[in-house]
Amino acid sequence: MDKIKMGVVGLGQRGKGITKDVLVKNGDIVITALCDVYEDRITECAEIVKKENGNEPKGTLNYRDLISKELIDAVYIATSWETHIPVAIDFLNAGIPVALEVGGSLDIKELWELVDAWEKTKTPFMFMENCCYGKDELLGTQMARKGVFGEIVHCSGAYAHDLREEVATGKEKRHYRLNHYISENCENYPTHELGPIAKLLNINRGNRMVSLVSVASKAAGMRDYVKKNSDKLENKELQGEIFNQGDIVDTIITCENGETIRMCLDTTLPRSYDRAFTVRGTNGYYTQTLNYVFIDGDEEAFQTIEHNMKNINNAVKYEEEYLPEFWKKITKEEIEAGHGGMDAFEFRGFVSALKNKKEMPIDVYDAAAWMCITALSSESIKNNGAPVQIPDFTRGAYKTRKPKDVFPI
Ligand SMILES: NC(=O)c1ccc[n+]([C@@H]2O[C@H](COP(=O)([O-])OP(=O)(O)OC[C@H]3O[C@@H](n4cnc5c(N)ncnc54)[C@H](O)[C@@H]3O)[C@@H](O)[C@H]2O)c1
Repeated sequence: MDKIKMGVVGLGQRGKGITKDVLVKNGDIVITALCDVYEDRITECAEIVKKENGNEPKGTLNYRDLISKELIDAVYIATSWETHIPVAIDFLNAGIPVALEVGGSLDIKELWELVDAWEKTKTPFMFMENCCYGKDELLGTQMARKGVFGEIVHCSGAYAHDLREEVATGKEKRHYRLNHYISENCENYPTHELGPIAKLLNINRGNRMVSLVSVASKAAGMRDYVKKNSDKLENKELQGEIFNQGDIVDTIITCENGETIRMCLDTTLPRSYDRAFTVRGTNGYYTQTLNYVFIDGDEEAFQTIEHNMKNINNAVKYEEEYLPEFWKKITKEEIEAGHGGMDAFEFRGFVSALKNKKEMPIDVYDAAAWMCITALSSESIKNNGAPVQIPDFTRGAYKTRKPKDVFPI
């Protein structure tokens, strides 16, 4: 395969960003088709492609027009949470490889349909969870795999991102998140923290997530934000709107091999960004927020936290030994290509697996297992934090599937 002819479906914030910062800069890819339900978004992205690569992609309002092996070799789907799975299934059924953007799912049935479509067709499918390529996540994971932290007992993470403005301006920006925050109450964005943790714990490869409990706080952040910004916000209908989505949603997952995973959705109160990836074992831990490693008995690291909170960031001293080579050699272009490098790496992973006909680094079972947390957390929250069973989308195959390399490029 020479250059991969790529179609992009969904040209909102993410689809446009990936087109501009990653796809047109990836020498293995040429964008031949673009689709959105909004004409202006197609025009804008077509101009980017023309300017950067010189070709004019086909533009269409109907993604079904892209289902043609003459037109594209693969599709990247970045539509809204409620549309992206049915769109992916249509491409899989047509034998066109899919790179699917992340998000949660409120519908367990559609996740089974996704798994069924892949099992029936075996069309290459990758779930584009860029945080699986995060520098901190990979450092912590590699240290865990090498046994530095002893036996792993617990992992935690968060999607802590102040999205109040994005949610409140959803109508004018034609963004899907607003409706979710009004009508749902769940762990609506589980995969950024869960993806890397699931990889570390070999979920679907010898281990599996068995059950969860979720609890949501009250929903005060959006109401307060809308009130405080009443003169600035264009959408006057929001004044007095009732938001159902709790500000902080805590979820605890129990794994078959005895580990627990604690996740936190934290998107509607003032705060700085954090994924808080943390791995705890019998011999020590890594935590992303402070970029801090503590190994049992390390007095210097202990004092650092106990007494002066200085010199945090001590994990840098482990990079030489444990950081994947591609992170050590990261180029300026890759750093600038979105989320500090993760976005460029995840597309390199997709391209490499596709070209070499290898197993995709993040597969359909990962996608289903991680996305289903949204539906299940909603159920648990409705039932006052009652435990909910997590389906095994591998139908028992996880028992014999082998753990994968943590550097999936
Ligand atoms: N990995 C990351 O870091 C990251 C970051 C942001 C968003 N995302 C994911 O990307 C996806 C899109 O997010 P966004 O913020 O760009 O949302 P957005 O609302 O800005 O964009 C979605 C686009 O999809 C289009 N669309 C919806 N249904 C369609 C259909 N049937 N056919 C064609 N186009 C359709 C919409 O018109 C819109 O332009 C989500 O799944 C989100 O979770 C991932």
